[in-house]
This record gives sequence, C-alpha cells and structure tokens, in this order.
Amino acid sequence: MKVIESVSEMQAISDQLRQNGKRIGLVPTMGYLHDGHIRLIEEARLHCDFLVVSIFVNPVQFAPNEDFDKYPRDFEHDRSLLIGQSVDCVFYPQIDVMYPEQQKTYVITEDLGNKLCGISRPTHFQGVTTVVAKLFNIIKPHVAVFGQKDGQQALILKKMVKDLNFDIMMTIVPTVRESDGLAMSSRNKYLSDTERQAAPEIYRSLTAAKEMIDKGICDRVKIANLIEERLKSIPQFRIDYIAIVNTETLEPVDTVSEKTMIAVAVFCGKTRLIDNIMIGQN
Ligand code: PAJ
Repeated sequence: MKVIESVSEMQAISDQLRQNGKRIGLVPTMGYLHDGHIRLIEEARLHCDFLVVSIFVNPVQFAPNEDFDKYPRDFEHDRSLLIGQSVDCVFYPQIDVMYPEQQKTYVITEDLGNKLCGISRPTHFQGVTTVVAKLFNIIKPHVAVFGQKDGQQALILKKMVKDLNFDIMMTIVPTVRESDGLAMSSRNKYLSDTERQAAPEIYRSLTAAKEMIDKGICDRVKIANLIEERLKSIPQFRIDYIAIVNTETLEPVDTVSEKTMIAVAVFCGKTRLIDNIMIGQN
C-alpha cells in the first residue's frame, strides 16, 4: 500500500491510472478509523480498480473554538487497518501541502449549509465542500463514497457534484452503529464512561420516533416533542437541534413522508454527537 503525501505525485498516479483505463475509488476521511469508515471502504472496493483513502484532518472545517487540535489522530493504527483492507493507496497530506498559501477560493453550497449543523457551525460546510473539491481534483476519482451518518454533509456534497459537474459517482452508505445503537464516530473517544452509557439514547429516541410514524402519527410537532422529552431526560445531554426536514431542501416538514430526514445534534458532556434516520429508506 502506497502512502502519498504530495499533491503532484498523487495527481501523476491518478493520471496514469486513468490513461490505463482504471477506475479510481475514493473514501475521504479525517482518520482515526472505525468500522463505519471500513464499511465505506468495502463499498468503494465494489466500484473501482484502484482504491484511495484520504486521511486529512481539515483545519478549514473547524471553527477556532472547536476541537481541531484535540481531534484524535493515530496514523500508524489507521495504516495497519487499511493494509488489512487491501487499500491501494493512502493520500496523507500535511496541512501545508493542502493549503500551501492562504486559500482565497471556497466552495459554498447556498442555503443547505446554513441549516441544522450549519447554525451552530456556520463555516463548517464550506470547509467540507472546499476540501472535498480539492481532493476530487487531486485524486480524480470515478467514484466517491460517503456515510449517511453525516446526512447533511452527504446531501451537500451530492449537490456540489451536480452543480459543479464533477464527473463522479457518489455513493452513500447507511450509518454503522455500535451494538447498543450509538452511531460510530471518531469523536466517541471523547466520552467518559457515564457519557458513553447515556449516548445510545440518541438513537433510541430516533427509533421511538420511527415507531410513532409506523403507527401513523406523522405530525412534526408531536414527533419532535417525543424526541425532545426523551433527550431532555438524560442529564448528560444538551440538545443542539432536533430537525424533521425534507431530505432534499432540509426545510422543516409539517407532516412526515417518505422524503423526510429526522436529524439530531446533542452535546453529551462537551462532545457534540449527531445522528439521523431517513424515513422510508431504512
Ligand atoms: P470523517 O468524520 O472521518 O468521516 C469520513 C466518512 O465516513 C464520511 O463520509 C462519514 O459520513 C463516514 N462515516 C463516519 N462515521 C460513520 C458511520 N458510523 N457509519 C457510516 N459512515 C460513517 O466526514 C468527514 O470525515 C470529513 O468531513 C470529510 C468528508 C473527510 C472532509 O474533511
């Protein structure tokens, strides 16, 4: 497995692969890999001849008060996991390789980036779209795989690909969970024992909402109230948002339908956790 740290070397490899008619797959990550990332890698494998995983903790998507400095990193562990997954290449650039001079050009997906997570993280999604657009231009993938765990991110990136005519197939993989339902996340590492015990209530409140919908109760306010009550009963939690929205516009819906996403963000202690379910799709 090659580890490539330079943009020009990565671009040369991708050019050569394309000339040889090979299909390139990309799984962008910030490292500290877990089974959610591995599932994305397995999916990408099915659609390409040469699989690249990028590992880059992107400073531009963190606000100054956020956890960029303490975001967990363990390249040697990630590398051994990826060797076990027969990944062909890891793109592992340093910050000055990705941002050699002050970045003046950003990709902004209007409206979609200002809602849900964008309210408490106003510059986050432009950081994500900008780095992913850069990775697309460096790695030149035919297919890129992302996770539904970050539902708003997946939607925004699909819209970016459409709007900017990136010739890339976008595949979204369902959320991978711990056995107690907690969505896997690199940030789960921050949780204390008691916070970790409380955290699965996020998904339980989403599944309780789903059960209510299955019984025919589709009113947004009723469903939001149920989720709010359950989340508020956990002393470790502080709710950031509960959103019951259209899967394409992220606008609130009055009545839940097949095209609804229920998404929540909760501070569990100091750690911000997100999760979502798609109605009619899983
Ligand atoms: P990161 O949080 O490392 O996640 C990388 C990819 O793994 C994303 O597509 C994310 O949605 C997916 N993922 C994370 N946890 C998952 C889970 N439990 N189940 C399924 N998929 C999961 O998301 C980012 O990095 C960054 O914003 C990035 C896109 C790399 C841009 O910097």
